[in-house]
Amino acid sequence: MQPKLIIHGGAGSSLKDKGGLAAVRQDLHAIARNTYECLLQGASAIDAVVKGCQLLEDAPRFNAGTGSVLQADGQIRMSAALMDGTRQRFSGVINVSRAPHPIDLANALQPESDRVLSDYGAAELLRELHVPIHDPLTDLRLHEWIEERKGNFSRKMADVVAESRRGTIGVVALDNSGCLAAGTSTGGKGLERIGRVSDSAMPAGNYATQHAAVSCTGIGEDIIDECTATRIVVRVTDGLSLADAIAKSMQEAKVNNRDLGAIALDVTGAIAWGKTSEVLLAAYHDGTQIGDTLEWIGDGLSDALSN
Ligand code: GLY
Repeated sequence: MQPKLIIHGGAGSSLKDKGGLAAVRQDLHAIARNTYECLLQGASAIDAVVKGCQLLEDAPRFNAGTGSVLQADGQIRMSAALMDGTRQRFSGVINVSRAPHPIDLANALQPESDRVLSDYGAAELLRELHVPIHDPLTDLRLHEWIEERKGNFSRKMADVVAESRRGTIGVVALDNSGCLAAGTSTGGKGLERIGRVSDSAMPAGNYATQHAAVSCTGIGEDIIDECTATRIVVRVTDGLSLADAIAKSMQEAKVNNRDLGAIALDVTGAIAWGKTSEVLLAAYHDGTQIGDTLEWIGDGLSDALSN
């Protein structure tokens, strides 16, 4: 079977604060190429998803791993989830600090009986795995936080959502055996209360079965209220095409004024994406070439490539 891949680096209203179109395109295409190469060499969907997430977590322009945004108290707390579609098995970590790749912790939890760990448990897991301590803070994120803090977070009170705070990264892969997997990782919404839990480490934001797999981005509370990833996957499982499942789910999210995006694959090799936000930072490899959604702006809520 021909492998398929789609990745994202968040959603928002413009590419400006992410470094502009050319820079985002260069990063996303390089990561899509590298991750697709793993699939071509026979990597499983789950291993390719972990690899793709690691590369996106390492890219500081995206809000996950290094380059994560700061919470209200000035600390970074990251969350990540991994779902194996074939075994329909979810694992994740919530609000972990000082890890280079939160997706690695989600991966380490895949075979465990306790598969979603939060703060202290996730920190303990880091120690068990002997992961060297890593500070994911960048100068840019610190500067953004200091700016937002001015006036006692008045921008937040005015409900202005900074672009960097809508970021998340995600990878969805179909391997040469026809197995699907999805992974999602985030620094969260930024300026959130201590203890807030992101959609990225819930089935609302990251879900897969043997039929379809989805990773979401956008405002976590909106994704949780729509249960977007699970909603799309269940629709495909019940017989809707991937394109129709994503179109219907985005239409419903739009009616409810949600701010979100999603990337998806199904077991036939169809690739689809959708958004209610203005831009979606996604790139895909269809087996022949790499494409992206970076200049897809306008009224359309979803689009798809069939296999
Ligand atoms: N979607 C990332 C978050 O809101 O935490």
